[in-house]
Amino acid sequence: MNVLLGISGGIAAYKTPELVRRLRERGAEVQIVMTSSAEEFVTETALQAVSGRPIRSNLWDKEAEAAMSHIELARWADVLLIAPATAEIMARLASGAASDLLTTICLATRAPIAIAPAMNHVMWANPAVQKNRETLAERGIHILGPDSGSQACGETGEGRMLDPDEIAAIVSGLQVDAGATALLACKTVLITAGPTREPIDPVRFITNRSSGKMGYAIAAAAQQQGAQVVLISGPVAITAPRGVIVHEVQTAQEMYDTTHVHIRNADIFIATAAVADYRPVAVAAHKIKKNEQSMSIELVRTPDILTSVAALESGPFTVGFAAETENLREYALGKLRRKNLDMIVANLVGAGCGFDRDDNAVEVFWQGGEQAFATDSKVELARRIVKLVAERCAIT
Ligand SMILES: Cc1cc2nc3c(=O)[nH]c(=O)nc-3n(C[C@H](O)[C@H](O)[C@H](O)COP(=O)(O)O)c2cc1C
Repeated sequence: MNVLLGISGGIAAYKTPELVRRLRERGAEVQIVMTSSAEEFVTETALQAVSGRPIRSNLWDKEAEAAMSHIELARWADVLLIAPATAEIMARLASGAASDLLTTICLATRAPIAIAPAMNHVMWANPAVQKNRETLAERGIHILGPDSGSQACGETGEGRMLDPDEIAAIVSGLQVDAGATALLACKTVLITAGPTREPIDPVRFITNRSSGKMGYAIAAAAQQQGAQVVLISGPVAITAPRGVIVHEVQTAQEMYDTTHVHIRNADIFIATAAVADYRPVAVAAHKIKKNEQSMSIELVRTPDILTSVAALESGPFTVGFAAETENLREYALGKLRRKNLDMIVANLVGAGCGFDRDDNAVEVFWQGGEQAFATDSKVELARRIVKLVAERCAIT
């Protein structure tokens, strides 16, 4: 696998020698092309030592151009990765500029392009940068991250470059899929997963048996198909796939609010979470003491996330999950129509099937069609479901 690594002039460039090592550990040949600003942050000497190849930076370097022209470099690459990607290079790419070696190669390559943006969180939130991000995503460029957390400027927010290890893992995945068509390239998929917890008092809550395994497997499968994946997860004991943006929530209301913050960027919404239908009317400020022989808790309905998304004007392709203990087909079809969904994935839950297991069997329904998937691992089922979602989404 030949990775052409473009390095632009952000502070995170100091992490690129490690990124090169992680890529090479995965068997990649790495050819580096730096912008002139990047040279301020990391030395050619270090990068040449870890990549084992001369570094390219100047479009007008006659000797280097004679040895391997910019067009040959563009052809050589199986994947073109820019990490870190500055606000500036995103703007140049979005405008179609070819003012330097790296952007010229980007225009001249047929290889998949991925960028790992890295910048101050205020810069990242700037509408101009977001517009460029959208433009690039629409053109099928994979946007890896950015992550949230503490930043070099001393502030905290969204804009950190993903860890080199995560970037290397995602880029390897792009190459794995390179032979096949990435069905969800340039799509953003928003997924809810896991259970919610509805507090009764500071130490007790109402929840359910959902493990989040199906939702996390769907997230991994969507990412393998080239999607940018945002996962809104209730409390689970599993780790999200690398490169997936995760927002952790506890209650149904938090899941609803977080979903509606991110839904405007989503092309596809897949609601696998087992959201509590009811929550206690009041949450006791202190631990409830046992006094009476019996007690009752008054419950109220939580907001219906799936219905609210399906009702959005020009909303995303919306997929619901139905976990039933009986009458699977009837209930699933009822939910599909009542909530006006594009698709519903139904499975039986109860003794020996459904929640907190590694396998499952599902039936998928949409207006005018259905498909059953026999018992298989949740990972394999997720792959099939995501393929079906991508196919149906392309048709509707
Ligand atoms: C110390 C320092 C750190 C910088 N860090 C970043 C950064 O993390 N992200 C970013 O987008 N720009 C950053 N910049 C600004 C870019 O270096 C500048 O926009 C430059 O023109 C980028 O050029 P290039 O994209 O061709 O590499 C930084 C500038 C300085 C002086």
